[in-house]
Amino acid sequence: MSKKIFSGVQPTGNLHLGNYIGAIKNFVKLQNDDDNSCIYCVVDLHAITVKQNPKELKQNIRETAAAFIASGLNYKKSIIFNQSLVPSHSEGSWILSCIARMGWLNRMTQFKEKAGKDKEKASVGLYIYPILMAADILLYDATHVPVGEDQKQHLELSRDIANKFNLDFNSPDFLIAPEPLIQKNFSRIMSLKDGTKKMSKSDPSELSRINLNDNKDEIFNKIKKAKTDTEPLPDSEEELSNRPEAENLLGMYASLNDQSLLSTINEFSGKNFSAFKDKLANLIIEKISPISEEINKLLKDQKFIDQILSDGAQKADKIASKKITNIKKIIGF
Ligand code: AMP
Ligand code: TRP
Repeated sequence: MSKKIFSGVQPTGNLHLGNYIGAIKNFVKLQNDDDNSCIYCVVDLHAITVKQNPKELKQNIRETAAAFIASGLNYKKSIIFNQSLVPSHSEGSWILSCIARMGWLNRMTQFKEKAGKDKEKASVGLYIYPILMAADILLYDATHVPVGEDQKQHLELSRDIANKFNLDFNSPDFLIAPEPLIQKNFSRIMSLKDGTKKMSKSDPSELSRINLNDNKDEIFNKIKKAKTDTEPLPDSEEELSNRPEAENLLGMYASLNDQSLLSTINEFSGKNFSAFKDKLANLIIEKISPISEEINKLLKDQKFIDQILSDGAQKADKIASKKITNIKKIIGF
C-alpha cells in the first residue's frame, strides 16, 4: 500500500549516529519504496522553543538539510524543506491549539523532561510544541510518520487532535489520524558513556556520541573510549539484559551492517571488547565517512542547499495552503 510519509528533525546542532540509525536511515528506506510519497522537514520553528543563536540556527538548518541529502534523501523524489518557509505550519498550529485540550498537553512527558524543574521559566512554545508537530503532519494528510520511540506520545496527540477536529466540525475523515512508524529494533541508540542514557545532541560530553560529521580519528577514538564492562561478549540475547553498553554497541553494529542482533552476537561471542571495538569503529567509518564527506562538500555551496530548501518549500506550500483553506472553510472563516 502506498503511504504518505511526513517526518521532521530539529536543526539544533550536529546530527549523530542515534538520529541516523533511529530516523534518517529509515527515511531513506521509505523514500526508496516507489509507492510512497515522502516529505522531510527541517523543523526550525520547533527549534526556537528553546533559545537559539540566530547565526548558529541558520547554519544548523543548512547542516540538517545537508545531512538529509548526504544520507541519501533525494530532493527530486522527496520534498525537503524547512518549516519556517511555509506559513501554514504556524497558522495551522494556532487553529489546532484551539482544538487540543490543556489536559492532553499536561500529560506530555517530553515537556516535563525538557522544561526541567522550573516549568514557570519554560517558553509557552515548548509547552505547545506537540500541537505544531500535529499541524506539520495533518496539513499534508500524512498517513505514516517515522519517528523514534520518544515521539510516540506526540503522535498519539496528533491523532487525538485530528479525531476531535473531525468530530467537532462534523467532517469525518477530513483530518487523517497518522500512524507512527517506529522501528522494532535499534530504535534507541544509547550514549557511548552510559548505556542507560539516550545518545543525544544535548549531552555536554562529545565522547557520548558519534556525530555524522566526525572524522575517522574522532570515530576511532570515541569507540575506543566507549564504556564497556569486564565480561567477554555474550553467547545469547538473554545475557545482554544487564549489559546495556554491550547491547548498545552490538546493536549499532547490527543496524549499520543490516543484520540481526542474534547474528551479530554469534559473530562476536566470547571475543573481548577491544577486537569488537576495532571492527565496530571500522564499520562506522565505512558507513558514516562518506556521509560526513558529502555533508562537508554540500556545506561549501550554501546557495545550492538554500535553493533545495526553497524549491521544497514551494512544493510543500502548495499542499499545505490548500489544506489550510479547507480548514478555514470548515471552521466558518
Ligand atoms: P531530534 O534530534 O530529537 O530532533 O530527533 C530526530 C529524530 O531522531 C527523531 O525521530 C528521534 O526519535 C530520533 N532520535 C534522536 N535520538 C535518538 C537516539 N539516541 N536513538 C534513536 N533515535 C533517536
Ligand atoms: N518533535 C520531533 C522530534 O523532536 C520533530 C518533529 C517536528 C516531527 N514535527 C514533526 C517529527 C512531524 C515527525 C513529524 O524529533
